[in-house]
Amino acid sequence: MTDGATHVRTNRARWNEISDDYQRLNGPQIRQQAFTGDISWGLWEIPESRLGVLGEVAGRDVLEMGCGGGQWSTALVRRGARAVGLDLSERQLLHSRRLAADTGLTFPLVQASAEAVPFADASFDIVFADHGAFSFADPLRAVPEAARVLRPGGLLAFSHVSPIYEITVRPGRNAPGTRLTRDYFGLRLVAEADGLVSMNLPYGSWIRLFRDSGLIVEDLLEPRPPASTGDMPAAEVSDAGGSTRERAEASAPERGDEAWAHRWPSECIWRLRKPTR
Ligand SMILES: C[S@@+](CC[C@H](N)C(=O)[O-])C[C@H]1O[C@@H](n2cnc3c(N)ncnc32)[C@H](O)[C@@H]1O
Repeated sequence: MTDGATHVRTNRARWNEISDDYQRLNGPQIRQQAFTGDISWGLWEIPESRLGVLGEVAGRDVLEMGCGGGQWSTALVRRGARAVGLDLSERQLLHSRRLAADTGLTFPLVQASAEAVPFADASFDIVFADHGAFSFADPLRAVPEAARVLRPGGLLAFSHVSPIYEITVRPGRNAPGTRLTRDYFGLRLVAEADGLVSMNLPYGSWIRLFRDSGLIVEDLLEPRPPASTGDMPAAEVSDAGGSTRERAEASAPERGDEAWAHRWPSECIWRLRKPTR
């Protein structure tokens, strides 16, 4: 694997360090889908069956960018996809291999950066990530790479925390607040409290990047916590924040984060199409 960019080296080292804790705390929630094939998106675990982001995957060549412990790709293999998992971190890929041993469902695993994808042009029908590589790789490199390896008519779908969420995170914390703390127009490379370097862009920059990569925006979904959790009173949304993004430290978003996400968009799911010609 060759990519010397500082944020890539930092994220690889940091993901190797936090991988075991991340899988211990978050794995049980997402692991279930590897056994049922019932996948769900994002912080609020909204079922794919409700959102219809990927649609039919059976018989499709699918690349997961930032597959982590491989729970999503395993579920897609269970649903008949020919999945390939790509991740930067060897420790995360080790968890993928362990899952394959547990489920008996194997698929190719590749250690690489989403900024330099080691596949030929037009190799996949679907490229996707759920809070995966597009949250940590430079989007100005990762999105054109995803577009390149898609076949004409192919789908790129990925989730990440919203730019609005990002500009309310207080220094030293990993939770959103009610005040603006970061420059919106300065978004790109964001040093997180947990030592990771995440990536985001202003909305207009995302859209121009998709257009310049030859992709058509089909949808921008902004999932909210399920209504069953109730609309939290505004008083519960405070700068004390919660722990939505404390990836290795918390297994689930806290009540304060849910309250926040009822009022403002916590995450984005983009659905993008490579035109047939
Ligand atoms: C938050 S985890 C999400 C993984 C999986 N979707 C899940 O829900 O557990 C993000 C993953 O992206 C990977 N990653 C970070 N930077 C990357 C890059 N430049 N290229 C590929 N993968 C990357 C990390 O190693 C990590 O496994």
